[in-house]
Amino acid sequence: MRLVVGVSGGSGIPYAHGVLRALQAAGVETHLIVSSGAKRVMSAEGGGLSPADLTRYAAQVHEDRDLAASVASGSYRTDGMLIIPCSAGTLAKVAHGFADTLLPRAAHVTLKERRPLVVVVREDPLPRPTLQNLLAVHDAGATVMTASPGFYHAPQSVEELLHFVTARVLDQFGLDVPGFQRWGEDGA
Ligand SMILES: Cc1cc2nc3c(=O)[nH]c(=O)nc-3n(C[C@H](O)[C@H](O)[C@H](O)COP(=O)(O)O)c2cc1C
Repeated sequence: MRLVVGVSGGSGIPYAHGVLRALQAAGVETHLIVSSGAKRVMSAEGGGLSPADLTRYAAQVHEDRDLAASVASGSYRTDGMLIIPCSAGTLAKVAHGFADTLLPRAAHVTLKERRPLVVVVREDPLPRPTLQNLLAVHDAGATVMTASPGFYHAPQSVEELLHFVTARVLDQFGLDVPGFQRWGEDGA
């Protein structure tokens, strides 16, 4: 499986870290695009994560300014794309087909080729323009997720919350994350 992973400037870069690590463990070939907004958030949040902590898990890393990258073309086959976290700004671009950099271009390509696109938004509260953009990407074929973990597995740590979101995101591509406790299964 080959997936494009876009990381934009929403708060919560650890979500991207968890997903990239799990995708590598699952043997998925990931093509990573980190926006300049994401790099700014990474340094501002002070969570200790740097771009290198993301790129180490990717099979290929593309610069967001590189509109000639493989994943900018529909002729380059992928099995879909996810954007995690998806900022309100990137969401707006995807909703309107505004492909000025590689990340929104790759998302546009994913939609036009009718491949799975998952956007994991991180913003609160949600104003009307963002709600409209969420509906627009949903209607265009994307799966909208929020970075909001469930609590039925009685999480004891931030890592367990991150693990929940990672597992539900990978679920959308039919991939299993080891240790994920599903409701109705043993122990849940
Ligand atoms: C520390 C920090 C946290 C931010 N958190 C969010 C957020 O949670 N959600 C969001 O939509 N934008 C957030 N932003 C704003 C975006 O990063 C900003 O709109 C940026 O231009 C998005 O660009 P990009 O989508 O190309 O990455 C944050 C910005 C900073 C500096």
